[in-house]
Amino acid sequence: MNLEKIRNFVIIAHIDHGKSTLADRFLELTKTISSKKMRPQFLDMMDLERERGITIKLQPCRMIYRADSGLEYILNLVDTPGHIDFSYEVSRSLVAVEGAILLVDAAKGIQAQTIHNLDLAKKENLVIIPVVNKIDLPQARIEETVNELAALLGISKNEIIKISAKNGTNVKEVLKAVVEKVPPPKQKLVENGSRPVFRALIFDSKYDSYKGVIAYVRVVDGEIGSGEKIKLLGTKTEAETKEVGFFIPELSSQDTLSIGEIGYIATGIKEPGKVRAGDTISNFQFKVEPLPGYQEPRPMVFASIYPEDPDKFGLLKESLSKLKLNDPSLVFEPETKEGLGRGFRCGFLGTLHAEIVSERLRREFKLEVIISIPSVVYKIINQKGKERFIYSANEWPNSTEIKKMEEPWVSLEILTPPEYLGKVSELLKSIEGDYVKTEYIGKERILLFYETPLREIIINFYDKLKSISQGYASMNYQIEGFKEADLLKMEVLIAGIKEEAFSRIVPKDKSLQEGRILVKKLKETLPHQQFSVALQATVEGKVIARETISARRKDVTAPLYGGDVTRKRKLLEKQKKGKKKLKEKGRVRIPPNVFLEIFRG
Ligand code: GTP
Repeated sequence: MNLEKIRNFVIIAHIDHGKSTLADRFLELTKTISSKKMRPQFLDMMDLERERGITIKLQPCRMIYRADSGLEYILNLVDTPGHIDFSYEVSRSLVAVEGAILLVDAAKGIQAQTIHNLDLAKKENLVIIPVVNKIDLPQARIEETVNELAALLGISKNEIIKISAKNGTNVKEVLKAVVEKVPPPKQKLVENGSRPVFRALIFDSKYDSYKGVIAYVRVVDGEIGSGEKIKLLGTKTEAETKEVGFFIPELSSQDTLSIGEIGYIATGIKEPGKVRAGDTISNFQFKVEPLPGYQEPRPMVFASIYPEDPDKFGLLKESLSKLKLNDPSLVFEPETKEGLGRGFRCGFLGTLHAEIVSERLRREFKLEVIISIPSVVYKIINQKGKERFIYSANEWPNSTEIKKMEEPWVSLEILTPPEYLGKVSELLKSIEGDYVKTEYIGKERILLFYETPLREIIINFYDKLKSISQGYASMNYQIEGFKEADLLKMEVLIAGIKEEAFSRIVPKDKSLQEGRILVKKLKETLPHQQFSVALQATVEGKVIARETISARRKDVTAPLYGGDVTRKRKLLEKQKKGKKKLKEKGRVRIPPNVFLEIFRG
């Protein structure tokens, strides 16, 4: 294999700056996809991605590019998501490539994830190709954006390529720069006799019912064909390859997969847990060093997922394992909850991630699920000084057992144009954030640094920031560690019965407010019953907020015409008695949409 011909690269950017659209133009220019088959955001392979207009999954694609010199190059592109909840997809992609196109929207300018993703790419020593996109937009601020980007990268302005991914303007220049600037893969031979030992890094995977787990790999040494024995070094699993090939972007079977290439290996392995992102696949008979893997992200946002049909617990378990192959940041542990039965406590990288997982379970595994209110993980230190992590409100111990409580804090970075500074500062005041410092990026951007509890920003904060800044401010955050907190467990009683699924941990000074919001929301979403229903939020047995849902009065007297008053009264009496009985019998059936509504906050 002539390594000189291969270029492996990613496109990184803030959300919506046009990665998938630029990838579309590459697919057309290289004739990888015929114009007949072309559709917008082609590399967003999931319907869910195209419906929502967001990339959720990394997606590799191999293209053949003929340069003006007549030479042909193999371009392995990995398209990556822009939303912060999916940044593990970005960091896994970066390890598989040598270069990165850093794309910035000319109307929006540099945003928080532009900086974050650039930092990640620099850590991997990738060659950066700076590109300003959407120059066709009337509101594009091309020169300002070019200046900002040049300042951020410390380069001259004429190194920045100005394009319209939508119209195709200058897109060819970007491919030229990829060929010229991104270095070809390096040979890192581990010899065994004369033959290099095969080694490949798994950066993603998915499940196929015929071929078993399909590992997405970057080959680092040697080559592999189908029907060969392989070993997964981390999980110590042996298998025989069923098929190897490239992504174009669909799987395209090949005789061999060689050094420097990005492709797939169908492993035939049926247990999803045996194939892990970051593991090394090697040749079966030789002893080789594993490649450096990934630092697994540590989810800090937790929610419970239950099958709507309690008999489908087994299917949920299997589906989550298969989904994890394709979404390695997801973690899950079985649990049981009052009123819900058996389900899983799941860890996510954010609330959008949680929402996408429940939607993928529904679409890809035909599973209707109920998902609880997401919450952060808390730490309790008991009277004996022992630490315990609390993942859901029902694990919260009695207050007498608690010596100290802690919660995760993040360092929060907000990038805003100066005109929104006032509103952004107001929003930051509404959360319990500590100001750290301010930095200026050019004249048009202010970067604010805060420290804040994670719980303050996981729900709706991003949307609020976007709406007060007309989409111009953006944020990024990193978990810093745990800090002391003052928290309480708030419970919800519906018709006098505790509904554990609605319990939550709240900061003491916000418990009243949170209690009121929660019962009000429940009142709006729960259907009327035939009897009146009390909704109460309580803390340590004390009611802190209350609402009542009035009874739905069915007109039992409707069939009666005229003035038979006694008969009418009799029927109403009967109805009243019936309602009383119902009330005693008790439990209000909570439809799944109520859990979802409360979950969305
Ligand atoms: P995520 O991966 O979800 O972060 O999005 P993305 O970076 O892949 O962006 P995508 O390609 O989905 O583009 C976002 C929006 O910008 C879409 O509506 C595109 O049509 C639009 N867009 C992309 N490039 C251009 C461009 O050059 N000009 C104009 N006018 N619109 C563009």
